[in-house]
Amino acid sequence: MHPEVFIMELAPRSCPVPLLLLLLLLLGLSTGAVISQPKEKSNEVWGYLTVRKDAHMFWWLYYAASSYKNFTELPLIMWLQGGPGGSSTGFGNFEEIGPLDRNLQPRKTTWLQSASLLFVDNPVGAGFSYVDKADAYAKDLATVTSDMMFLLKVFFDDHKEFQNIPFYIFSESYGGKMAAGIALELQKAIQQRAIQCNFAGVALGDAWISPINSVLSWGPFLYSVSLLDDQGLAEVSQAAEEVLDALNKGLYQKATRLWEKTEMVIQQNTDEVNFYNILTKNSSMSAVASRLGFTQIHLVHLFQRHVRRLQQDPLSQLMNGPIRKKLRIIPDVCTWGGQASFVFLNMEGDFMKPVVSIVDELLEAGVNVTVYNGQLDLIVDTMGQESWMRELKWKELPKFNQLKWKPLHSDPKSSETSAFVKSYKNLAFYWILRAGHMVPSDQPETALKMMRLVTQQE
Ligand SMILES: *[C@@H]1O[C@H](CO)[C@@H](O)[C@H](O)[C@H]1NC(C)=O
Ligand SMILES: *[C@@H]1O[C@H](CO)[C@@H](O)[C@H](O)[C@H]1NC(C)=O
Ligand SMILES: *[C@@H]1O[C@H](CO)[C@@H](O)[C@H](O)[C@H]1NC(C)=O
Repeated sequence: MHPEVFIMELAPRSCPVPLLLLLLLLLGLSTGAVISQPKEKSNEVWGYLTVRKDAHMFWWLYYAASSYKNFTELPLIMWLQGGPGGSSTGFGNFEEIGPLDRNLQPRKTTWLQSASLLFVDNPVGAGFSYVDKADAYAKDLATVTSDMMFLLKVFFDDHKEFQNIPFYIFSESYGGKMAAGIALELQKAIQQRAIQCNFAGVALGDAWISPINSVLSWGPFLYSVSLLDDQGLAEVSQAAEEVLDALNKGLYQKATRLWEKTEMVIQQNTDEVNFYNILTKNSSMSAVASRLGFTQIHLVHLFQRHVRRLQQDPLSQLMNGPIRKKLRIIPDVCTWGGQASFVFLNMEGDFMKPVVSIVDELLEAGVNVTVYNGQLDLIVDTMGQESWMRELKWKELPKFNQLKWKPLHSDPKSSETSAFVKSYKNLAFYWILRAGHMVPSDQPETALKMMRLVTQQE
């Protein structure tokens, strides 16, 4: 496979070198400082930060817009997208929780009504973030985390108004794995007084915390909901065992490839179930998700099969069209999503590594941890999440396990159950009903309510 061919088509580097250099100088790319943050309206700012040599990270901040409260009375939430390579400023913002939807219409359920929102395209190469040289992509979680520490340090230094406001990290999918690593380092940095921030908790949504637990539960989950027969279950289980075997031998890249193979065995046996929501096949959402949501290996295949179609993707058109124009600072060399598949490919050796021990460290350190998962998600199914949670060494876990969950109703007037929740000390788990992988897209009201509960607003 030759993904670079397609990337080149999507992001032609036609900018003549002197002009490019001039542009880089003008934008201050080589200085390691904040490049620029022009204000369109007073309630949103954005900019680039050079977090490492040749590595430029794009962020976009919206100040909370509540009719009842000043932003200073509301929390700040950083949203991290999955992939690795998915775009927080694009997908999270316009498809999930931001003030406007993909058609630039106001979103009734935007999280902005209850929080300020910080979207960051990370790792570098995702969304409008970009690298100048191929060796600048992150290859492991440690680099992803230290890049983000650099960004957060500069962010809180430059936005002192947020230093005392409760700061939460919410995340989705692979973003959850990054969020766990980032939360732990942030906690340490605050203790060492390296970063001034009122860190209040991390929420891991359909999070890629222990990949093998997901893979091993795919077969039983699909079988239990009539999406596999006996023969199919045997084939999927066999493929999953091969992933486990590779992991046990420490062959992480091989495990990533076998993981992809297991997905194909599932596709063949389920008439192509949608990995992001087992009940919605062939919706426009699932098409967008499979391109920009979780796996960039899918993306690479899609690049190869449907380059034309990808360029017509409505989100991609929005980001590379009107949004790019509005932001004004996106350099010519950068196409939104143009480097996404390289972000994934560079993280291939990290992809299947679990971070359960990091969650344990967070719990031990007293950080508030929320785990939430969509009932209809397959790629990160709830059974898999429950199974890694049983592996936690946290000493309060037995008490957490003994509790009964409680039903949650988003609409107090309705008897419809939106979710179940269990919470003990600094761990909470939300079982989100009728949602797949992208919880705020599938169940926006429930997601908003959960966010308000997690941030102590209800
Ligand atoms: C919000 O709070 C800040 C800081 O206390 C203050 O400067 C600003 O005037 C307030 N804005 C409104 C609309 O009350
Ligand atoms: C952390 O969670 C506990 C238990 O739910 C809660 O009492 C506490 O206020 C939370 N802390 C923050 C900063 O949200
Ligand atoms: C969904 O299926 C219909 C009919 O098979 C097809 O025409 C359409 O292109 C599909 N849509 C997506 C988003 O794949």
